[in-house]
Amino acid sequence: MLEEIANLEKQALTTIADAGDEQSLEEARVQFFGRRSRLRQILSGIGKLPGDQRRSVGQAAGAAQKAIESALAVRQQALAAAAEAGDAIDVTLPGRRRRAGAPHPLTQIIDDLVSVLAGMGFSVADGPEVEDEYHNFDALNTPADHPVRDLHDTFYLRDGRLLRTHTSTVQIRVMESQPPPVRVISHGRTYRRDTVDATHHMVFHQIEGLYVDRGVSLGDLKSTLNALGRRLMGERTNIRLRPHFFPFTEPSVEYDFSCSLCGGTGSLADGSGCRVCKGTGWIEIGGAGMVDPNVFAAVGYDPEEYTGFAFGLGIERIAMICHGIDDIRLFLDSDLRFTRQF
Ligand code: PHE
Repeated sequence: MLEEIANLEKQALTTIADAGDEQSLEEARVQFFGRRSRLRQILSGIGKLPGDQRRSVGQAAGAAQKAIESALAVRQQALAAAAEAGDAIDVTLPGRRRRAGAPHPLTQIIDDLVSVLAGMGFSVADGPEVEDEYHNFDALNTPADHPVRDLHDTFYLRDGRLLRTHTSTVQIRVMESQPPPVRVISHGRTYRRDTVDATHHMVFHQIEGLYVDRGVSLGDLKSTLNALGRRLMGERTNIRLRPHFFPFTEPSVEYDFSCSLCGGTGSLADGSGCRVCKGTGWIEIGGAGMVDPNVFAAVGYDPEEYTGFAFGLGIERIAMICHGIDDIRLFLDSDLRFTRQF
């Protein structure tokens, strides 16, 4: 019987220690210590035992009872403490990492351009995205019947206002609000009624510069764009102006930067054609020109006294070239797998 008691105690202690919750602890108590348990049976039968066994069995059973009782109490406490700590901080767990955010790839390009141009003395001006026809077209020498308006079809509000098709609107707003000299840049969202595909979007971003003073020349425009190209694409970047047409500049140009991948040669070291400039050696960047006298007339500047240049470029285009991105839609998709790469 002594051996049975020792076994019971051992079994009881491991079962109690293993009890993972209040319910299994209660089950262990009933099994080993309940009214109908074997230990109770033994305890209540002690009196009927022969004298020589009574003492030793009594002692063993009493000791087993105490051990089980205290094991139950200890386990009970541990479970209660664990339940209470459920909401508390476990300082031994590995920390939950917070990802550091980063500016959107387009914002990064804008920041770069703004800082380069700020270094040349340009300050940033802002204007509304919802514009009137006057600032988007008429004041920019683009009357209602001008064919250029077809290329700038956009979204119209019921009251006749529209979503601006370029940042050139800000040229007008700035010149209306101050006398020359003017040296500003503006950037932001622009809209056109374009069918969305890999290279066109109805929402895109532009940055634009305007410099008006006495004696500003096309040479100033060229050297400004050249400096911009070098800061943006590397010190060996060259620039090329091609004749073009914009209603609000005369003469007007489109300007290209020499390709930074092939160094303007159009072919790569292995003899294959450059994939960035498609073998031409040049990358088309944007439009520019000397401010048209009609624009000065619209804002009340004297075209006999002042001249100026303006230039614009598409931010998406620069970002696509710099990062080798082949689909303009990615910029606005908000797909974290894309944006997290920057
Ligand atoms: N606003 C023109 C466009 O969006 C670009 C441009 C800006 C051209 C400034 C000349 C001068 O097409």
